[in-house]
Amino acid sequence: MKVLLIGSGGREHALAWKIAQSPRLTKLYAAPGNPGIAQEATIVGLDTEDHEAVVDFCRTHTIDFVVVGPEAPLVAGLGDVLRAADIPVFGPSAAAARLEGSKGFTKDLCARYGIPTGAYKRFTDADSAKTYVREQGAPIVIKADGLAAGKGVTVAMSLDEALAAVDECFAGTFGAAGAEVVVEAYLDGEEASFFCLCDGKSVLPLASAQDHKRVGDGDTGPNTGGMGAYSPAPVMTAEMVERTMKEIIEPTVRGMAESGHPFAGVFFAGLMITEKGPELIEYNVRFGDPECQVLMMRLESDLLPLLFAAATGTLEGMKTEWRDDVALTVVMASRGYPGAYEKNTPIAALPDASAATKVFHAGTAMKDGGLVATGGRVLNVTATGKTVGEAKDAAYAAIRDVSWENGFYRNDIGWRAVARETA
Ligand code: AMP
Ligand code: GLY
Repeated sequence: MKVLLIGSGGREHALAWKIAQSPRLTKLYAAPGNPGIAQEATIVGLDTEDHEAVVDFCRTHTIDFVVVGPEAPLVAGLGDVLRAADIPVFGPSAAAARLEGSKGFTKDLCARYGIPTGAYKRFTDADSAKTYVREQGAPIVIKADGLAAGKGVTVAMSLDEALAAVDECFAGTFGAAGAEVVVEAYLDGEEASFFCLCDGKSVLPLASAQDHKRVGDGDTGPNTGGMGAYSPAPVMTAEMVERTMKEIIEPTVRGMAESGHPFAGVFFAGLMITEKGPELIEYNVRFGDPECQVLMMRLESDLLPLLFAAATGTLEGMKTEWRDDVALTVVMASRGYPGAYEKNTPIAALPDASAATKVFHAGTAMKDGGLVATGGRVLNVTATGKTVGEAKDAAYAAIRDVSWENGFYRNDIGWRAVARETA
């Protein structure tokens, strides 16, 4: 099978690495790619926003299957254009990608199908949003409706903070994404991410993970795209997985199918495990980054047929096998991230690869023959172990062999799970 992978982050490096191991693969292309992905795939200089150009490339290179990593091309409808050209594609239609692209859409679906989630209201003007916020009181959560690169959510612990967040959204800080605002009840509990493949009708659970969104040790400082993750999430016991499937995922599959926009792709459910059980915080319609990296380290099965089955309505009866090991990844980012940072800083050395450790590339590039950091999140140093503690020690040991002066990382990835293990 000839495959084209779209994307350029650590998630796509992990997907490329895993797809490249498939006996079914004959040739892997990637666009735009990065130097890590280039170790697994032929990089092509395609403008992935030019959907017709992507279709042309697929036709000229007789591509059998396209795998879309990030959400932006899906929300922009790349999946629809490819499907219309009869090219199988992993990733939902733009209409189904609204599960991630519009928080209001997802909340309405939850309300219709009785899916547990925080009580909410949608607003298109600041005054009525503020009146509702005052009625509800703090803590309360303010969300820009659309995609805001993970920055459109304020968990407000005080009323003032909540009112300021409403103003910020309507002042245009998040552009069109903030033209509508969702105000949502605060959920108290432990967060976990849960991943499932879906082909529009059948659903196949994959695995759970937990990430660390804050930039600083002890979960302090501003939110980021994720500074590290581990899988599985100890809070996702077999019972919680079963309840999540029944109470959240299955009604979502049904709801999307009944709406005329069946969902095919990967559900990335952001959950809060509260006293009542699992509640949905949000859906993403693609693999998490860096959650994907830890999932791929643990997945024993061949990924390619699974993704292809999700794309072609043939998922029923498929199974996955997972290593019992824990996988943990530590993100190395450019100093200053998630704010401004210097670009093109040299990365002089990376750790040697071993069976239990792997460095995935995110924002890297080759410049004058040397590896440089070009993005905010740059490297994902990933390791496996029998316990979270063991995986953590192995990942941090590998990080010591990274020679990159402008890089920083959190020192406590996995702390909650390690504390559980040692309690
Ligand atoms: P989201 O972009 O919807 O994932 O929100 C970002 C983060 O905000 C989540 O990972 C949670 O930590 C937090 N969050 C979102 N919604 C809620 C909620 N209703 N209650 C508590 N925390 C929330
Ligand atoms: N790490 C969170 C995300 O991919 O959205």
